[in-house]
Amino acid sequence: MANKTTNHNINVDKFRKAILNWYDKHQRTLPWRALSNQTPNPYHVWLSEIMLQQTTVPTVGPYFEKFLNKWPTIHDLANAHQDEVTHEWAGLGYYARARNLHKCAITVSNELGGEFPQEQVELEKLSGIGGYTSAAIRAIAFNKPANVVDGNIERIMSRIFAITEPMPDSKKDLHNMAGLLADDRKDRPGDYAQALMDIGSSICIPKNPRCALCPVTDFCEAKKLGIAGELPKKKPKKVKPEKMGHVYWLTNDKQEVAFVRRDEKEMLGGMLGLPTSEWVLTSDEAIIPLTHAQDSKQHISHSFTHFNLRLDIYIAHAQEGIIKALDNVKWVSRSELSEIGIPTLFKKVVKLMK
Ligand code: ADE
Repeated sequence: MANKTTNHNINVDKFRKAILNWYDKHQRTLPWRALSNQTPNPYHVWLSEIMLQQTTVPTVGPYFEKFLNKWPTIHDLANAHQDEVTHEWAGLGYYARARNLHKCAITVSNELGGEFPQEQVELEKLSGIGGYTSAAIRAIAFNKPANVVDGNIERIMSRIFAITEPMPDSKKDLHNMAGLLADDRKDRPGDYAQALMDIGSSICIPKNPRCALCPVTDFCEAKKLGIAGELPKKKPKKVKPEKMGHVYWLTNDKQEVAFVRRDEKEMLGGMLGLPTSEWVLTSDEAIIPLTHAQDSKQHISHSFTHFNLRLDIYIAHAQEGIIKALDNVKWVSRSELSEIGIPTLFKKVVKLMK
């Protein structure tokens, strides 16, 4: 291939060579990553990429291992009950991902003979797979050229090309820049993408980038200008709205605690949780607690992507009236409390009340 340069005068071949040489020496060992003498398993790559959306590498590790032990192939996952999948997912957050994961497994297993497509447009027809994930699967699982751009890679590009326009306005430019270095390149696209991810997590880090260790520091415009640590610029964050509600710790004569399955349309839909009131903006009218429930004077706080939540904990001994108001109560014994798969929000309440 001709020696391509970007309009920032970056020699693409030299840039990629520096990245790949670094990767050969310093790549991370990760549970989903194939060793250099192994062929990547598309099921593993897909599962890890879905789990890694919005969740960190150290958190994902044990979940990835647990899923593979339980469901070694995509057919096993497709045959699982959805409740079992959301149960095992508990703690990873963003529960729509678990439902989409299961839907996707069913489609790939039943309609595609268990094989993931290699083209991004085909991958994106599957539940839970968007632009980033389709590119990552194509590059990492099939070693085909694709423009893989996650948050780490956006940061690297903002520095290499010294893009001072703030995020998210600069997003499109950053993706185009990444594309100049990635597109139509057939030399190790999967390793190249993963190398950038590793450099982003250990060297080109958000604060105090470790430029002395960087294999492409000579290509970096921001380093030359002395502004690497200031990029990418970000627009000031909008203040998150504050919501509040009540959460109920209802016990019966056997000291069991009441849990309910949350409605599919609510936040954390389909998950098991403690009963709660509606969650309302703090500026709205106050919520009236269930009759007979007593304010424990304790509360938990939890931050979701689009709002912060404070739940005041109310205690009640289960009585006819209360139980009738709740559909499908599942009574959980004290010893089972630490094992049930519930979202972190409710784990916080259990920790306080147990
Ligand atoms: N973050 C998202 N995908 C990743 C991967 N494949 N390796 C490391 N970090 C990642």
